[in-house]
Parts: sequence; C-alpha cells; structure tokens
Amino acid sequence: MSSKELRSTAFMQQRQVSVYFVAIVAAIGGLLFGYDTGVISGALLFLKVSFALNDTTQEIAVSVVLVGAIIGALGAGRVNDALGRKITLLFLAVIFTVGAGLTAISPNLLFFIACRIIVGVGIGAAASVVPVYISEMSPPRLRGTLVTFNQLAITVGIAISYWVDLAFAHADMGWPPMFATAAIPGVLLFVGMLVSPETPRWLASKGYWNDAKEVLEQIKGLDPEKELADIRGSLLIEQRRGGVRELLQPGLRTALMIGVGLAIFQQLVGINTVIYYAPIIFQKAGFVSASSAILATSVVGIVNVLSTIVVIFLLDKVGRRTLLLIGTTLMIVALAALGLVFSSGSSQIGGLTLMTLIVYIFAFAISMGPVFWLMSAEIFPTRLRAAGSSICSFSNWAANFLVSLTFLSLIRLFGSSLTFGLYALMGILALVFCWMLVPETSGRTLEQIEHYWSINEEHKRKMA
Ligand code: BGC
Repeated sequence: MSSKELRSTAFMQQRQVSVYFVAIVAAIGGLLFGYDTGVISGALLFLKVSFALNDTTQEIAVSVVLVGAIIGALGAGRVNDALGRKITLLFLAVIFTVGAGLTAISPNLLFFIACRIIVGVGIGAAASVVPVYISEMSPPRLRGTLVTFNQLAITVGIAISYWVDLAFAHADMGWPPMFATAAIPGVLLFVGMLVSPETPRWLASKGYWNDAKEVLEQIKGLDPEKELADIRGSLLIEQRRGGVRELLQPGLRTALMIGVGLAIFQQLVGINTVIYYAPIIFQKAGFVSASSAILATSVVGIVNVLSTIVVIFLLDKVGRRTLLLIGTTLMIVALAALGLVFSSGSSQIGGLTLMTLIVYIFAFAISMGPVFWLMSAEIFPTRLRAAGSSICSFSNWAANFLVSLTFLSLIRLFGSSLTFGLYALMGILALVFCWMLVPETSGRTLEQIEHYWSINEEHKRKMA
C-alpha cells in the first residue's frame, strides 16, 4: 500500500464516519499510555524475584519507561509533521505491539530495560500525537469532549493494568503476561487507524486540498465549507511566517509558556506519586497488608476513571479555565490535608488518607489531568501544532521523571507530611499561574485561538 493509499483510501471507501468513532480509535493510544505506565506497579513484585533486583535496580526498572517517553515526546513533532498524524499512529501501534511481545520474553534485566525504553518511546509520542489528531478532527463545540476521550482512556488503561496485574498475580503466572496483554490494544489501534482518515488540517497543510475536502465531507457533524475556509485562511497567514523558532516570538511565546507551564505543574502537584506509589503511601498510612493497600489503590483508580467521565461533559460547557481553577484549588486543600493527616498521628490515619486521596484524584481528574493535554493540542497554529505539543509533552515527561525519581528520597529526608506540603506549595504556584495566564479556549475554533495570541500581544503592547 502506498503512503497516499494509507493516507486516505481505506477511509474514502466509506460513506460517513462519526467523529466519535475516530476519537475512540485514536484514544486507544491513550489507553496504551495508561496501561504501559500503570502495569509496572504490580509487575515489580515479580520482576524483583526473577531478576534479583535491589532498591536501585527496582527504581531503574520503574522509571526507565519515562526516559523512553522523553525521547518519544521529543521526536514526535517532526515525525508527526513529516508523515502525518495517521501514519505516525500506525507506526506507534506497531511499536506498542512489538514492544509488548519483546518485553514479555525478556531473558534478563538489560533486555527488559531496552524493551521498556522502546515502549516508552511509543508512550511519549502517543501522548502528544493522539490529542493533536483528535483536536484536528473535531468540530469546535465537541473538541473538549472528544480530546478528553484520550485522558479517559489513560485513566481506564491505568485501572485495567491494576486489575490485570492482580488477576495474573492470583493465577500465579508472573510478570510476562502482564506486559504481553498490551499487544491486544496495540493491534486494535493498528486496525482502527487503518480505517480512519488523515486529519483535514494536515492534508491541507501539505497541499492535498481535495483529500482534505473529502475527509471534511465524510465526517458527520462538521460544516465542510466553513472548516475549509477557516483552514485556508489560517494557512495563508502561516505561510508568511518563520519556522519553529516562531514559537519564541511575541504572541506565540505566550502560548508556549502556557503549554509548558501546564505540562510542568501537572506533574509538580505530585499526581504520579499517587499513581505509581499509592500502595506505598497506603502502607505508610497503616494499611498493613499488601492486599489491603492494593485494594485501596484500585479504589483511587476507579475514582480517577469516574471523575474523568464527569469532566467530559463539563469541559465544553463550564470551560477549561474555570475547571482548572476549581480543581487546582481543591488539590491544594487535599494535599495540605494529607500533610496534616500524616503529622497528626491520628488513629484514623488510614481512612483519612483514603478520603483525602479520593478528593485529590477527583480534583486532578477534573482539572490539570484533561485540561493540560487538551490545551497542548489546541493552543498552537496548525503548522506549529505538532512541534508545540511535542515540546509540551517533553516537558511533562521530564517533570514526571524528576518527581517520580525523587518522591521516595523526599519522604526519607523530610517525612511524608512535609513532602505533601511541598506539593501543596507547588499547587499554589500552579493556581497563580493559571489565574494570570491561562485563557478560556472552549467554544472557539482552532483558527480563532490562533488569532487570539496576536490580539493578546497587540493589547499588551498598547498597555505598555
Ligand atoms: C498525566 C499522567 C498521569 C495520569 C493520571 C495524565 O494526564 O499526564 O502523568 O499518570 O494523568 O490519570
């Protein structure tokens, strides 16, 4: 099959395709992101025995996937622009599937680490390619909802990985099938993307106007003429401008600052100390047996999924900014409460920890979780969207790596109470950042958002 055929034929044969269908297919990339990051928590207990891991090699086994993700996030922008969103996602599906198989047959730690880096590259790249793909396929009024299918898929992937780990642990089958299971969504993503279209915006940006028009006509719920006119207008403006460096020029500089800031704050509020280390936090809070700690962890996983389902209906109605401000405030309260719970020495510490973590995960799931990935895919102009969102994704994975690698050491050095206090402080900085810089983007077309940055700059110049 030629690349032209891959771009469109399979899709063109169909009459009409629902935008929900293509969003769900692409979101399988998010499911793999969640599954492949969450799976390590339960698998670690078995890997420890198979490869005789000590504390340091355990930390490496957990965090090496993030190194791969950092590399994947960096490379994603170029590949996504050169090959297109669809072919990039097909390629990532192959990486996920082959990576899952190879990880499962790892004969030693070195081989395992190499496989986790490969899978990490897939995760890091998918993290930015999926939201870009969905946002470029969506009508403005549904964009928040549809892009957030990705965040929902991430949370479902994490929850499924907890349960799959538990099932294979009970069946005494060890770690290999835990990793191999990821091949199933990998194949589904591949098949689904084969029958999904390339985005009209990427097609138009490469001059395939007829293909772009056909896709627009075949997606239910889009206004083809209006979309095409918007895309044409914004591409005309873009042609007069410079390359990726333009992201550092006045105007788009603000968009980049917002994307990167949200990326870093999303991690500095400590989300993955909970996602990756929840059983350890619960054990510190008095859930003595491993099974009760894992059970409490799965409750957190379920709350994460349910809250994300709720927010899907709110993003385009209540707005991104409002949710960001409400959720971040609630996270600060929960983190401060967690710090107090650990310093209080209360006999109810276990129950109180579970309660505050539930509030915390709810607050994250209605704000920073979905809003960061959504905004990273909608605040940049078409020509710079892949590059911009890949820089944001890179910053997110780098910050994730930093927080995940330092969490246990911070607890050892300063204790749980001060450590969560520190994340609460980061939450306050995040709130000030969002309040001062993040605009409301809901209900606007991608082209209107693009226009906003230049108006914003003009306004600032006039005020100076
Ligand atoms: C974050 C991940 C996190 C997940 C939890 C995502 O938005 O980027 O780091 O593990 O949410 O639901």
